[in-house]
Amino acid sequence: MPFNNLICAINDKAAVVTVNRPKALNALNKETLEELLACFAELAVNDDLTGVVLTGAGEKAFVAGADIAAMQHLDALAGREFGRLGQQVMRTIETFAKPVIAAVNGFALGGGCELAMACDIRIASETAKFGQPEVNLGVIPGFGGTQRLPRLVGTGMALELLLTGDMIDAHEACRIGLVNRVVANDHLLPHCLELIGKMARKGPIAIRLCKDAVRGGIELDCESGCRREADLFGLCFASNDQTEGMAAFLAKRQPTFTNN
Ligand code: HXC
Repeated sequence: MPFNNLICAINDKAAVVTVNRPKALNALNKETLEELLACFAELAVNDDLTGVVLTGAGEKAFVAGADIAAMQHLDALAGREFGRLGQQVMRTIETFAKPVIAAVNGFALGGGCELAMACDIRIASETAKFGQPEVNLGVIPGFGGTQRLPRLVGTGMALELLLTGDMIDAHEACRIGLVNRVVANDHLLPHCLELIGKMARKGPIAIRLCKDAVRGGIELDCESGCRREADLFGLCFASNDQTEGMAAFLAKRQPTFTNN
């Protein structure tokens, strides 16, 4: 499907989804959010897909936030609807059956930082910058930032970022655990595709259930999460991939996984 504000390209079974509004530093308006939903729905039914890399067009921004011009005249009800639409996008990414990696190539502010946080893994370029500057605009994050940021970096660090609106660079983001690693700008996309490629060589059912165990379990107390883990662990034994993976190990050969 052609999009106005996104580019979706398949690169050796991995999708690269690029938010493409460089003149507005890839700010998220309603149309872009709806296109993200449509794009992920389309990718969800692509059985060959191994994972998704999400990035921003141009050299300056990943996503500089929700579109301020589009939000300027919203009333309370429309504001809530806009927040819910964004939250639906974040949840879609978070629960997507394949790994989703944010390749953060520049400003990831407000809704942009929230978008990166919904991804499974964040890799930043040297020039990436992160922040939740909503308080500068008289609003609070609305795409899940008040919930995901403290889960990722702890309450104290999250509240400092949320209440000051300060921006941090890629190395500070790495130090506090907001990103996994910082790489040179021109290595960003290759590095993310390499990570997807590495995951693609594992058992696909195990990859899906492992993400599900973490994503579903983090919402629960440890005991309930472990019960859920045991269920999903058991489910692995209903797959041919488990038979193949363990047989291959014992026969000292590489496994051939078939995703069933
Ligand atoms: C709309 C934006 C934008 C945004 C940048 N632009 N960010 N338009 N929404 N979030 C536009 C600018 O208006 C400008 O358009 C062009 O992109 C280039 O930006 P400049 O400001 O000229 O660039 P620069 O001086 O380099 O500054 C970069 C920047 C700054 C530091 C990233 O643009 C900035 O502070 N942007 C806003 C960041 C922000 O507050 N994000 C949070 C939004 S609230 P023109 O037409 O003049 O060239 C949010 C809430 C989410 O995300 C939840 C909602 C429910």
